[in-house]
Amino acid sequence: MKIFLNKPLPDVGMELLKAAGLELLLPEEEIVSRAAWIAYCQQADVVVGIGAKGFDAAFFGQCPNVKAIALFSVGYDQVDIFAATQRKIPVSNTPDVLSRATSDVAFLLMQSVSRLAAFNFERVKSGNWLQQFQPTLHLGQELYGKTLGIFGMGRIGFEMARKCKAAFDMKVIYHNRNRRPDMEAGLNAVYVTFDELLAQSDVLSLHANYTAASKDLFDAAAFRKMKANAILVNTARGGFVREQDLYEALSSRRIWGAGLDVSDPEPMSSDNQLLSLPNVCVLPHIGSATVEARNGMARLVAENVIAYVKGARMPTLVNMEVYE
Ligand code: DGY
Repeated sequence: MKIFLNKPLPDVGMELLKAAGLELLLPEEEIVSRAAWIAYCQQADVVVGIGAKGFDAAFFGQCPNVKAIALFSVGYDQVDIFAATQRKIPVSNTPDVLSRATSDVAFLLMQSVSRLAAFNFERVKSGNWLQQFQPTLHLGQELYGKTLGIFGMGRIGFEMARKCKAAFDMKVIYHNRNRRPDMEAGLNAVYVTFDELLAQSDVLSLHANYTAASKDLFDAAAFRKMKANAILVNTARGGFVREQDLYEALSSRRIWGAGLDVSDPEPMSSDNQLLSLPNVCVLPHIGSATVEARNGMARLVAENVIAYVKGARMPTLVNMEVYE
C-alpha cells in the first residue's frame, strides 16, 4: 500500500513507518494548489494529513483510491466525516498526547490576559515603561476562587480545569453535549446550560470539537450574556467566535479580555483590529507545539497507519461507524 504524507512527520513517526516497510510518498515541494493536493492523493491508498484542509466531499469523489486517512491533529473538522463514513473510509486523529500542551496554552493565555502580559511587554519594547509608579494604571485581575467555565469537557478541557483548580482554586462549571460524571467527580465540576455558562464564567475556555453547526456560537448575543470581568480563551477553533462581535465586546469593555490561539481564518491578518486592543493576547495556533506533544502525535499517526495496513482497526479512530 502506498502512503502519502503531505509533509514529513517528526522523525519518530517517519522511522516507525519506514521500519514497517511501507511505501511512502512525499511531495517534492510544498503543496499550495488544490490540483497538486488531489494529484498526490490520487496516487495513495492512505493519506496522512498534516495541517491539510482539503478532505471535503469533493475530495472523496476525486480520490476514490483513498482507503484511510490519518490526521496529525486531534481536531477533525478539516474532514467531511459524513462523506468518509459513507464510503467506509476510516479516519484517525491524535487525542490525549496533546492534551497537556494545549491546555497549557489555554492556561498561559488566561494568565497573560488577566495580567495584561502581552500589552505590558509591548509597552516595554516600545519605550513606554512608565517613568513614575502609577498605582491604578494597567491593572490586571486575580483569578483566585473565580469561576472557570469549560465549553467542551473532553480531555483538554479536563486538563485546563485541573490546572485552574490546583493553581487558583477556581470553581469549575462546564457545558458539554453530554454530562460527564467521570470528570465531575475529580473536579467538583458542575454541569450548566450554555446560557448559565455564559452568565457565570469569569474565565470561559473553549475546548469543544468544532462542526459547522457551531459557527459563530460566540457572537454579540452571547457576549451580552457574559460578565463584564469575563475573559474568553479559545484554543479550539476560530470558527466558534464571531471575531467582529468579539472586537466590539472587547473594545466597548462589554467583556474584559480574550486570549486566542486560533482564529478564523488562519493565519490572522496582521491588521486584524483585535490586535490593536490591550486586553487581547493572540498566539499563532501553537497549542500542540511542544517536542513532547508533536512526537506523541507522530507516533500515534504511524501506529494508526500501520494498524490499518495490517488490517486492524486504527487505535484512535474517529468514525467507529465505518465498522457497523
Ligand atoms: C489539533 O490537533 O486539532 C490542533 O489544533 C492542530 O490542528
